[in-house]
Amino acid sequence: MNGCGGEGLRGQAMAVLRANDRGGYTVPSAGLYPFQWNWDSCLVALGWARFDEARAWREIETLFAAQWPDGMVPHIVFHRDDPAYFPGPAVWATGRLPASSGITQPPVAASCVRWMLEGARDRERALAAVRRLFPKLLAWHAWFHSARDPEGRGWVVTVHPWETGMDNSPAWDAPLAAVTPPPDLAPYERRDLTHVDAAQRPTRAEYDRYMTLVQLFRELAYDPAAMVARSPFLVVDPATNAILLRADRDLAVLADRLGERDARRRIEGWIARAEAALPDLLAEPASGLWRAFDLRCGRPVEARTHAGFLALYAGLGDARLAGLARAWAGETRYALSSVPAADPAFDRRRYWRGPVWPVANFLIARGFAERGLTDLADRLRRDTAALIAGEGFREYFDPLDGTGLGGTRFSWTAAVWLAWIDQPERDRGPNEPSDPLK
Ligand code: DGY
Repeated sequence: MNGCGGEGLRGQAMAVLRANDRGGYTVPSAGLYPFQWNWDSCLVALGWARFDEARAWREIETLFAAQWPDGMVPHIVFHRDDPAYFPGPAVWATGRLPASSGITQPPVAASCVRWMLEGARDRERALAAVRRLFPKLLAWHAWFHSARDPEGRGWVVTVHPWETGMDNSPAWDAPLAAVTPPPDLAPYERRDLTHVDAAQRPTRAEYDRYMTLVQLFRELAYDPAAMVARSPFLVVDPATNAILLRADRDLAVLADRLGERDARRRIEGWIARAEAALPDLLAEPASGLWRAFDLRCGRPVEARTHAGFLALYAGLGDARLAGLARAWAGETRYALSSVPAADPAFDRRRYWRGPVWPVANFLIARGFAERGLTDLADRLRRDTAALIAGEGFREYFDPLDGTGLGGTRFSWTAAVWLAWIDQPERDRGPNEPSDPLK
């Protein structure tokens, strides 16, 4: 990285991961997020892989050691309790060992494993790790395609905003409004507000609904069929579906490397089903942007968010997305705001309602680069670099003035620096660009 103090930042990024290392897993941010989070961990492994491959593989293996017997990989693994966070293991009460939450998160693991394999300096170690991980990755994807797509429709459903990782996205406003906190909702005390300014976090009304869903799932003993049948929040999330489709493609490549022919055929079936179903369900007719679909109301959610551009990362998406992305990026000094700046829902500092997220930029830019949209990929990379160089490894950033927000010394922001900003040759990712958009 030239002109941004790249050498120093590389060292600082490595120091962030080392400081957040709890021995086999990396906490996203000390204090605010003191456990192992699913998609954080997988993306953080990409950062570890730049300077300690053994540690990178261990990160993923530690996560999969918490996989449930049915294949689900939980969104949080509570390796040890920590009163600094709510809701902790006693609230989830899943009865699992290691203790975990009872919902999942976007399945980036197979893609991260593929990238780690293809970038590995120690090929033998990498192949051995992939051999161990492959059946677990396959089981997780199979769980998504059955438990979360019980009717075989080609899209998977999400039962809690926390499963999307984009908790308070405006996309969840309407579906979450249908969740009514019961009079007997257990009283609780939020801990996130002791670490981060309340203006940068979800509201109390949102938390009441998050906890209402947790209480319901606990009563349902985390039975997947009951959760899908009974959750008042039931959506098709563009990010989860794009990430799963992309991860299926990467899993198919891993199957080839391992000579897993039957698995490969099974994965191809999942891919074909998703390709046939997702654009029709999710693409906004006027722009092609993928938007969430509210299954309880049977209609698309109006809100537009940056998650919609992940259609390209999934290997789909139409040509109009390029123009839309350029206009979206043109509205802010730093791209890509999670919500367009002109949108009434835009809130420049509040979590997923406006700020720029380095990790989202990393995934979205990969989709842009792979489709030949290098101007957009470069803009996202340049802006991400400038934000981190200016304010440090923050969780997210104000898209208008670049102020660093949320947690500090954030692991996946450090990983994004190591795996992307510091590695220009990797912009394209392992796949050749195909079908450039004009
Ligand atoms: C939180 O606690 O804010 C998390 O996003 C839940 O996963």
